[in-house]
Parts: sequence; C-alpha cells; structure tokens
Amino acid sequence: MSAAAAAPRPAVLLLHGPNLNLLGERDPAQYGTTTLADIEKRVTNLGADLGADVVCAQSNHEGVLVEQVHAARSMAGIVLNPGAFAHYSIALRDAVDAVDVPCVEIHISNVHAREEFRHRSVIAPVAQGYISGFGVDGYDLALRGVLLRAAGTR
Ligand code: DQA
Repeated sequence: MSAAAAAPRPAVLLLHGPNLNLLGERDPAQYGTTTLADIEKRVTNLGADLGADVVCAQSNHEGVLVEQVHAARSMAGIVLNPGAFAHYSIALRDAVDAVDVPCVEIHISNVHAREEFRHRSVIAPVAQGYISGFGVDGYDLALRGVLLRAAGTR
C-alpha cells in the first residue's frame, strides 16, 4: 500500500451554537431561509467531494459546546458558528484554545454591520480564521479553509 493510500480520511466537526437550530424560520432577513439541516447536508456533501468526513452537532448549551470541542481533539478541524456565544463565552474560547485543532469561526450575517455588541468575538483571536457576511456560502469557505490548515498547506 502506498503512503498516500494509507493517509487517514480527515474528519471535521461542524458545530453550531444557540438558536441556530431555528435557522430557516429565525429572522430570515439576517439569516435567509436555509435550515440547519440544509447547511449540514451541504457541508457534508462538500466534505465528501473534498475527501473528508463531516460530523454535525448543535447545542443551545455552553457546557455541551465546550465538551463537543474537547471531543474534536482527535479530529482534523472544527467549523464553528458559535452564535451569540462568539461575543462573550470565555469558556468556549478557552476550549478552542485548549485543543490543538484548527478552527474556523463562521457567521452567516455580517456581524460588523449589525449591533455593536456583535462586533467583538472573543473566539476569533484563538481561531485560525474568521468568516462573516457571506450567508451560508461562508460554510464552503470555512470547510475549505480548515482542510487547508489541517493539511498544513496554509
Ligand atoms: C450569528 C451572528 C451572532 O451574532 C448571532 O447571535 C447568531 C448568528 C450568525 O451566524 O450570523 O446567533 O452567529
């Protein structure tokens, strides 16, 4: 077997925080009408095209999200939409910082064009990248970015 054939298939955690289970019905002017299930399917399909497995999770609870980040320690990367926790969860920030796994933070809306309290992310300084304002297309960018990081090519 060649070395290339033996390379493990990377797995990426696609993790969503609070209120994102309501995508599709929640504030469509900001977030569009795509549901969370649609996003998970889209990212999973893109992952398959790129040779990666995508594991999807969502929680409205900070501690559960922290534990899901911990559980991604053995994975190649994390695509994280932390929802409002981006703006104030030091616990989630510390979890991302604690695991040696590349993480791309994504927001569907352009948070910098919205209320001032959304302009700051406490997670962004410990993430490898940050995407905001591209709608659900941002997930494609985030997955590609995290896989490039995981492969060590960026
Ligand atoms: C969001 C932006 C956050 O400010 C907000 O609290 C969300 C969604 C986004 O994807 O645009 O829940 O993360």
